[in-house]
Amino acid sequence: MTENRHTVLVHTQEQLDQALEAARAAGLKVGFVPTMGALHAGHISLVSLAHTYADIVVLSIFVNPKQFGAGEDFDRYPRTLEADFSAVAGNADIVFAPAVEEVYPANQTVAPKHAGPVGETFEGAARPGHFDGMLTVVARLFDMVRPDIAVFGEKDAQQLFLVRRLAQTEYPGLKVIGAEIVREASGLAMSSRNRYLNTEQLDIAEILAITLATVSQLIHDGLDIAAALAIGEEMVAGEPETKLEYLALVDPQTFERVGENHTGKALLLIAAIVGGVRLIDNHQFDI
Ligand code: PAJ
Repeated sequence: MTENRHTVLVHTQEQLDQALEAARAAGLKVGFVPTMGALHAGHISLVSLAHTYADIVVLSIFVNPKQFGAGEDFDRYPRTLEADFSAVAGNADIVFAPAVEEVYPANQTVAPKHAGPVGETFEGAARPGHFDGMLTVVARLFDMVRPDIAVFGEKDAQQLFLVRRLAQTEYPGLKVIGAEIVREASGLAMSSRNRYLNTEQLDIAEILAITLATVSQLIHDGLDIAAALAIGEEMVAGEPETKLEYLALVDPQTFERVGENHTGKALLLIAAIVGGVRLIDNHQFDI
């Protein structure tokens, strides 16, 4: 059942524990969907997927200061708690929207997590410290919610890779589930940051998904990886107001670039700045 649940809004660890008490006592499985809010259909799909693995689903909304770098959009990141609550009312069981002091109390040290070398490539290269901050809050939220399963979107493939590794090493009882990318009818991957784009820029942003589809098809059909990536780079270069950050083919097992003789699963990553907004997308396929 994913509909017509009674949804409660809690802000503190104490309120969260209270809301989960009966479920824990009954041995029910707790599912967890961490978000930064500004919810869209991608986030909602994570909640629905969590219901298929868990009896009770907690969605958190927390704009984590530790994963934003200097000059990034922490201050202007959309904070729309009321609309977010309405969007998941009847679907999530508990909405946990803690204040910064609840997650990072002044009188308690929250152990920082380190993403290591994979945290310094692709998104991590462009956003130094981002993945350390992301892992730090995810671990802290895992400790606060103590879920049995947690759902993360494949949209943020590098994040999902690092969270899976964190769970394997530090939360062995926790099952991390990846959820498919939810897209607009145009193919554009849904993102909270899409709301920074005007209509024209939203049209231009479709180039990310188009490039992923074209390049992965070319590689799948046998074109050299380097040649296919070069074609993709040209496609993005042809768009106004757009700067390609990277287009790369990685092994989903290691998150390292694959060589020309790679076979099996491959993950094509793209990041581009459209109208000043950094967008990412990816597509997994077999070679
Ligand atoms: P946020 O960007 O709000 O995303 C929350 C979750 O929704 C992530 O797991 C993300 O991958 C997923 N998601 C976003 N867009 C999606 C889409 N179009 N289709 C499917 N899933 C999508 O990612 C974060 O927040 C933060 O880094 C967080 C993990 C909450 C830690 O602060």
